Amino acid sequence: MPGAFLIFGPPGAGKGTQAPRLAGRLGVPHISTGDMLRAHVKGDTALGREAKGYMDAGDLVPDELVVRMLADRIGEPDAAAGFLLDGFPRNVAQAEALDAMLAERGRPLDCVVVLDVPEEEVVRRISGRLVAQNGRVYHEVYDPPRTPGVDDEEGLPLIRRPDDEPDVVRNRYRNVYLAQTVPVREHYAAAGVREVLVDGTGTTDEVAARLDQALPA
Ligand code: AP5
Ligand code: MG
Repeated sequence: MPGAFLIFGPPGAGKGTQAPRLAGRLGVPHISTGDMLRAHVKGDTALGREAKGYMDAGDLVPDELVVRMLADRIGEPDAAAGFLLDGFPRNVAQAEALDAMLAERGRPLDCVVVLDVPEEEVVRRISGRLVAQNGRVYHEVYDPPRTPGVDDEEGLPLIRRPDDEPDVVRNRYRNVYLAQTVPVREHYAAAGVREVLVDGTGTTDEVAARLDQALPA
């Protein structure tokens, strides 16, 4: 039966690579705040214009903007029975906001799925990442598209994310992930939420198989 899931891990861990398939298997929508914010930037909305500077620097977009966006999204009909969150909550204040939203729905978070990948590997992964506008993720060496520079499914052009420059990646990992996001894992551990720790190293298929085993549908 579907439920509220969270996929957690450092930038470049493979959350966006694994989450669409995992969400499909769990029967819930994949909700990535990063993908949603990038769509706002691309669409030049008021939220996108406000968010862009923070995102390009690798900093968190202010909580009030992201929390409102997330609350609207999980209020949509397809999320009524649950969802797989990717990229939210990013700090303890956002976790507390999510807890309040879930309390209103009368159902707590079911599970935190942690993708465990060391820093040197996430740096390798991010330095070769290519993305399509629809959120699909490739890697020029580890997971190349069939035609260079072109998305396999819709033929969209592949680009590099502006926040994948080495200096920005360092900020995202050290100042944001370690300092602000790791405490979210501790927040849920202290609350007694089930945690599933999955080794995120190896090929994408190996990681997918570990996720399947750890989270049988
Ligand atoms: P977001 O888009 O969430 O970025 P992130 O958390 O830094 O995570 P990434 O998308 O970089 O990594 P991933 O784990 O998804 O890895 P991926 O699957 O792509 O957020 C971006 C920005 O938006 C934030 O910095 C912030 O400004 C803002 N934002 C978002 N949410 C927010 C919030 N809640 N509050 C405030 N601000 C927010 O994989 C990486 C690469 O590795 C790819 O090239 C992939 O092909 C490759 N790869 C994947 N798996 C493997 C494997 N097993 N082997 C080899 N290569 C692999
Ligand atoms: Mg991602």
